[in-house]
Amino acid sequence: MKPRIVPMTARHLSAVAELERVCFPADPWSEALYRAALENPAVAVLLALGEDGALLGYAVLSTVLDEGNLDNIAVAPDCRRRGVADALLSALTAFGRARLACLMLEVRASNAPAIALYEKHGFQAVGRRKNYYDAPREDAILMTLKFGPDTGRTMCAPADGGSYETAPAEQRGACRPL
Ligand SMILES: CC(C)(COP(=O)(O)OP(=O)(O)OC[C@H]1O[C@@H](n2cnc3c(N)ncnc32)[C@H](O)[C@@H]1OP(=O)(O)O)[C@@H](O)C(=O)NCCC(=O)NCCS
Repeated sequence: MKPRIVPMTARHLSAVAELERVCFPADPWSEALYRAALENPAVAVLLALGEDGALLGYAVLSTVLDEGNLDNIAVAPDCRRRGVADALLSALTAFGRARLACLMLEVRASNAPAIALYEKHGFQAVGRRKNYYDAPREDAILMTLKFGPDTGRTMCAPADGGSYETAPAEQRGACRPL
């Protein structure tokens, strides 16, 4: 399956919010949050569309200076294992390679499909946040993909080679922990 990768627009909002509820039933982002993303120049939402224009998946990238964070990625259950996430992540890493020093993300320690996806695209595990997730409570694995030489401006990896600081969730802003 070779999906078309396009930026989200206002007309996609309800479909994205609906797929979000399917993929993250316990804690879905609201349609309002996706609407706010449209108005935020530091956030990009990419969609994967099928030949008929149906929404197959989406990915959310936020940036601060030259750091990118993959805040969310999801594919419709009946479209999985067909390269849709591959296509979304390839588009984001191409953007990152051109514009960013690194991409970062957090992922549930038990989310083997997502971890395999990220490793396939060159992300490396660089830390762990204890008890980062609720329902069920679980650690997050922090993963980073660096682009080019380290500029010394980024916090893409723990300076001491150890774990990232484990700030309380309420201090970490609105981005979904992956
Ligand atoms: C993780 C997720 C986005 C993968 O989407 P997908 O479109 O099925 O992934 P792809 O078909 O593009 O697969 C790309 C790579 O990911 C890995 N992968 C994907 N699903 C996998 C699975 N079930 N088991 C093992 N590896 C898997 C593989 O490395 C695969 O490469 P390969 O086909 O060459 O083996 C999808 O399973 C999903 O939406 N999960 C629920 C939401 C979620 O957990 N999102 C991530 C954290 S927020």
